[in-house]
Amino acid sequence: MKVLEGKVWITGQGLTDACVGINDDGYIGAVKKILKGDEHTTTSDVILPAATDMHVHFRDPGNPEKEVWATGSAAAACGGVTAVVDMPNTIPLTNSPSNFTDKTNRALSNSVVDFGLGFYAYPGISKESWFTKTFPAFWKLYPYKFSWPEYQSTVNEVIENSSRPVVIHGEHPDYISYDTLSSLSDHTHNRSNAEKLCLEGMPNSSSLHVAHLSTQEGLNVLPSQATSEVCPHHLLLNLSCELGIECKVDPPLRERNDNTALYNALRNGKIDILASDHAPHLMSEKASSEPPSGIPGVETMIPLMLNEVAEGRLSLDRLVSAMAEKPAERLGIQRGKLIPGNPADIITVDLKNKTKISLENLHSKANWTPFENWDAIFPSRVFRRGQIIAKDGVLQEKKGGASIFPPTL
Ligand code: DOR
Ligand code: ZN
Repeated sequence: MKVLEGKVWITGQGLTDACVGINDDGYIGAVKKILKGDEHTTTSDVILPAATDMHVHFRDPGNPEKEVWATGSAAAACGGVTAVVDMPNTIPLTNSPSNFTDKTNRALSNSVVDFGLGFYAYPGISKESWFTKTFPAFWKLYPYKFSWPEYQSTVNEVIENSSRPVVIHGEHPDYISYDTLSSLSDHTHNRSNAEKLCLEGMPNSSSLHVAHLSTQEGLNVLPSQATSEVCPHHLLLNLSCELGIECKVDPPLRERNDNTALYNALRNGKIDILASDHAPHLMSEKASSEPPSGIPGVETMIPLMLNEVAEGRLSLDRLVSAMAEKPAERLGIQRGKLIPGNPADIITVDLKNKTKISLENLHSKANWTPFENWDAIFPSRVFRRGQIIAKDGVLQEKKGGASIFPPTL
């Protein structure tokens, strides 16, 4: 058994002087005041559960120029994320058992972090013979290509026929305008009411999970039984930042009051989950006349938010809940807490070790970030099932990620 000793995050108790015992299989064997092991490391860092990011776009298969499993997962690992869920809008879509298996095999061969896959949902999907036999992390619904009645009925169809969560991109298709844009605010204007009008029309179901909340109005009409997530860019960026069209993202960046409302909802627990919506596109595409939407962020999410904690703007309790405990709970997987039986997915963090985000140290093929030069705190060590996969933002392992589904709960 390997032992890690220091200030350990114990759910319900907070930081506690303790030892985490890691068995040879990479799972936590014990968390106790005193433990003896073959290898004993004492640290002055805080010892926290690593993050699960349930919203990334690793573009593999389909767009290897933007990202592949190797680079996306390296970015995740260095940013303290040891498990991801990849979204199904790849080329081809993850919308059939064979495409699902193909993507799983790519991830098994190339990902350094553990993973699940979102499955692309469409009208009539529950009638497919394989529907109850595949095991995606969740079913994902996009508003594009569907009418509003189709969108609503597909949400209900999947909720009625599956026990897995239904994750929606919560923008009403009839209120997304595709008018030309010359500025970031044009894009926001083209989708100004789409979130509120979509969420108002969603069923109040505990199967529903609302991805990337972006507006105060949307937050106000969130169905009470649904869970939701917020991304760092919707908390920390808005239209008054001096950012250009490269920050075009769906749903769009909004106003400062939206940042405040979303941040308060993260603080008070109305928003359960922090997710990156890591959506890499190349700067050459972003600078074109028809820029794609998306902001990369899987590597900067936890370092930015740890800095928020160090600055006193967010409690460590809320961050650990939103980055580790709640995503695991939502996905029904046994992670996110430092307790016996869970995988030893751990980050150690020196909350005084503030650095500046610098593109040259990041791993995504997107090769740009809106957070260049922002203060951040990177984890000193990132353990995936007991093995160190990243140290101070430098990758230590290249492979070994496992599928987390079906879960063992
Ligand atoms: O901005 C976005 N980019 N929003 C999405 O919903 C998709 C994503 C992507 O895949 O690029
Ligand atoms: Zn997304």
